[in-house]
Amino acid sequence: MKQYSLSILVLIIFSACQSKPQQDDWVTNSLNQAREQLAYAVQMLDDTLSYPRSVNPDGSLHLVEASDWTSGFFPGSLWYMYEYTRDPKWEDQARRWSAGLAEQQHNRGTHDIGFMLYCSFGNGYRLTGDQEYRAILLEGARSLASRYNPRVKAIRSWDWARNRWSFPVIIDNMMNLELLFWAARESGDQSFYDIAYNHALTTMNNHFRNDFSSFHVVDYDTISGAVRKQETFQGHADESAWARGQAWGLYGYKFCFRETRDPRFLEQAEAIALYYLNHPNLPEDKVPYWDFDAPGIPDEPRDASAAALVASALLELSDYTNTHREEYLQAAEAMLKSLSSPAYLATPGSNQGFILKHSTGYKPVNSEVDKPLNYADYYYLEAMLRYREKKEQTSL
Ligand code: GLY
Repeated sequence: MKQYSLSILVLIIFSACQSKPQQDDWVTNSLNQAREQLAYAVQMLDDTLSYPRSVNPDGSLHLVEASDWTSGFFPGSLWYMYEYTRDPKWEDQARRWSAGLAEQQHNRGTHDIGFMLYCSFGNGYRLTGDQEYRAILLEGARSLASRYNPRVKAIRSWDWARNRWSFPVIIDNMMNLELLFWAARESGDQSFYDIAYNHALTTMNNHFRNDFSSFHVVDYDTISGAVRKQETFQGHADESAWARGQAWGLYGYKFCFRETRDPRFLEQAEAIALYYLNHPNLPEDKVPYWDFDAPGIPDEPRDASAAALVASALLELSDYTNTHREEYLQAAEAMLKSLSSPAYLATPGSNQGFILKHSTGYKPVNSEVDKPLNYADYYYLEAMLRYREKKEQTSL
């Protein structure tokens, strides 16, 4: 009888010890589900030179070439899966899909080089130290820096529509600065740092309204450096707050603070975060409508990509803030719980292999509306890994 009670006691203690990891089951379950889904995506693809971007209106897979601005996100997701699993099979897949992007290091025709190379080779270099990846990234940074105009003090975003804009800079361009800050550290070449720093300051001065919402596109005069126009391209209206634009800005300024420690960048990131989190049109599940000022709210499509980006940004920003740490952590957790629910997280074998449902690419022309997007998946995985790491380190 005594021996029997002892066994029960051991069983109770054992179960108590087991209960802590179970609190995080939703994280592990969601990441495992994402792993299954990525394996399904890889198995559907015929070659490593076509990159899944979204789903076409007819339901088929929308594949793009290496020169598309989104090409780096699929290899980036494969690198995150390698980071999660440490299984060499994922490293092999990540390397195979990254390889086709190497030529883009010489592409001087777009600012998106940061997205394309830093999400793919950047993660690859971080995880493996591969010196070939380092060289590709540095050459890519030189290509990106070649688009800097010292009069405007910014990097040119787009080369097309020259009859509409002289020197367009979009809020999304903040994201590409991370490659330049990395290149400055890695090479010791201060000019990369200066370009990124100046671009961030110029954007801070001209892209933001008094309430810290942002315009999408600012066009500059290349002779005087003055602002010509402030408008939108992918948002609802020039004066509206396009959800992903707010997310690009928030994500950008939090790493600008990390890289420079300039308190103005922290203030900027926090002001953008508070605008976003306190907006009356942010739905209860914290996955925003595609534009905070979309006219048909609440019957407007959501943008899971913005939620994933913001969750990832808030988790990092919580390390820098002096005042809002808990608020950011709780909001990020709520966003990730929503994205990890069946409403957004796709069942493996469905959704053309994409991890998340319900993102919106370019609503005004009805393109990629309420569809999966490869960058939603990428930033979701990034945020989930960040969240998991924080959980392991703290009592979040
Ligand atoms: N222009 C990139 C985006 O759709 O956010």
